[in-house]
Amino acid sequence: MKKIKVGIIGAGFAGKFHCECLKRIYGVEVELAGVTSLHIQSRKSFGNQYGIAVFDDSEALIKNVDVVDICSPTYVHSETIISAAQLGKGIICEKPLTGYFGPKNADASYQGDKDDKQRMLDAVCVTLNKIVAAVNKNKVFFGYAENFVYTPSVQKECEIIEKTGAQILRMTGKI
Ligand SMILES: NC(=O)c1ccc[n+]([C@@H]2O[C@H](COP(=O)([O-])OP(=O)(O)OC[C@H]3O[C@@H](n4cnc5c(N)ncnc54)[C@H](O)[C@@H]3O)[C@@H](O)[C@H]2O)c1
Repeated sequence: MKKIKVGIIGAGFAGKFHCECLKRIYGVEVELAGVTSLHIQSRKSFGNQYGIAVFDDSEALIKNVDVVDICSPTYVHSETIISAAQLGKGIICEKPLTGYFGPKNADASYQGDKDDKQRMLDAVCVTLNKIVAAVNKNKVFFGYAENFVYTPSVQKECEIIEKTGAQILRMTGKI
């Protein structure tokens, strides 16, 4: 079976626990093939820690791996997914998948809680559609690393909704 070369984008907290998980995969041979991040120091020290190649940017890393594991901040997920898909690479993406991060050129005075919610939702949908189109067009593997969707309570809800044809009318969350 072919060895799968995985590259990590983001040398922070999520990057580390993804590496630890990738090292424990069995049934298929996985090679940690490299890392990149925004800051030279963080990617070098991450590369040293795991004994893997260090790439200057996402573009260089994506070209050299089979699968990219995106562990960068959420606001760069969509552009990285689309670049990887266009190069025919498999993709794993940390949660959250994407979001709305303010209008172009927003400065520190921008307040998301005061923004128009419909406009924000519409912008997120545009981004999601671009992601879906890029993944489908290039027929690449896409794995969303969202642990909560696999919890028994959420799985049970999915089963109930599927079997009854029910609709979700409202979802609330508590911190
Ligand atoms: N599943 C979970 O339980 C969980 C927990 C924490 C974080 N997360 C998610 O993981 C992602 C990363 O969070 P984190 O806590 O590891 O952040 P972090 O700040 O610890 O690390 C982010 C890393 O991404 C790099 N980075 C930033 N912009 C980049 C770019 N344009 N190209 C390449 N690298 C870039 C940074 O240099 C840094 O190394 C976020 O989406 C976060 O929401 C998920």
